[in-house]
Amino acid sequence: SLPASASPLLRDMAHVAYLAGEALVGFAKDRSALTLQEKTAGDFVSSADLKSEAIIADWLKTRYPDFGWVGEETGAQITGFDEPYWVVDPLDGTSNFLKGLPHWAVSIALCKGDAPIAAIVYDPVKEELFSAERGCGAFLNGARIWVNSDISLSTAILATGVPAGGRVTYLSDCLMDLEQLMPKSAGIRRWGAAALDLAYVAAGRLDAYWERNLGPWDIAAGWLLVQEAGGCVEPLWSGEPILKSGSFLAGDAALLRQVHPYLTPKH
Ligand code: IPD
Ligand code: CA
Ligand code: CA
Ligand code: CA
Repeated sequence: SLPASASPLLRDMAHVAYLAGEALVGFAKDRSALTLQEKTAGDFVSSADLKSEAIIADWLKTRYPDFGWVGEETGAQITGFDEPYWVVDPLDGTSNFLKGLPHWAVSIALCKGDAPIAAIVYDPVKEELFSAERGCGAFLNGARIWVNSDISLSTAILATGVPAGGRVTYLSDCLMDLEQLMPKSAGIRRWGAAALDLAYVAAGRLDAYWERNLGPWDIAAGWLLVQEAGGCVEPLWSGEPILKSGSFLAGDAALLRQVHPYLTPKH
């Protein structure tokens, strides 16, 4: 559910996330309709991803014909939109989904300029709906959530993501990040669904999260959740817009000042 303050627009976003989530749960329960393609080595798209994106795109484009569209599987191009534009990951955590690991989500953001203004991340398995609108706070099933503050690096649980399959061009940077931060923190997780990593930072379940080279659909909604929960999402390298570079660090500002120096700089 949503907070009482939710706008009609956020309610529409949640509605379509529920519809997509229902379809995805259908595929997860009856795998006979699941077909698979490998986009690049280790990077899969299934009939479930495509169906979910079709449901979201049809509904939002009909209801909001003037808004732009960026979806992972259709129209994956951020181009200077003047109007607000949707940034949608129809199934974040495809590999988890395909293995039956119950950790995946639908991510829907509305963006304006370079940044999100409304966000939904929905985990249908756990029935958790994360929501935010710019300036109005972040919520989990209608209850306010907050990023953990007053955490030192030595007691922090961090999360990250590492490239899969053929996407190894920045592998050494990821390995150096881990080598630096594993001994300094209280532990590092790799959950496999970026939108939920950000939502969990917003909800105080993770203290900080970083990842490199993600798509805008992985980040847009979760970014607003973290900000509206009192946290900070900063580019790994200053001056690079987060949705374009896909490389960022999220959490409480004071903790990020402790984490950032250990992350391998761009070279
Ligand atoms: C992936 C997940 C994963 C991240 C990958 C993303 P997808 O999204 O968010 O955690 O490490 O790089 O591509 O493909 O399952 O939507
Ligand atoms: Ca994908
Ligand atoms: Ca994703
Ligand atoms: Ca996806």
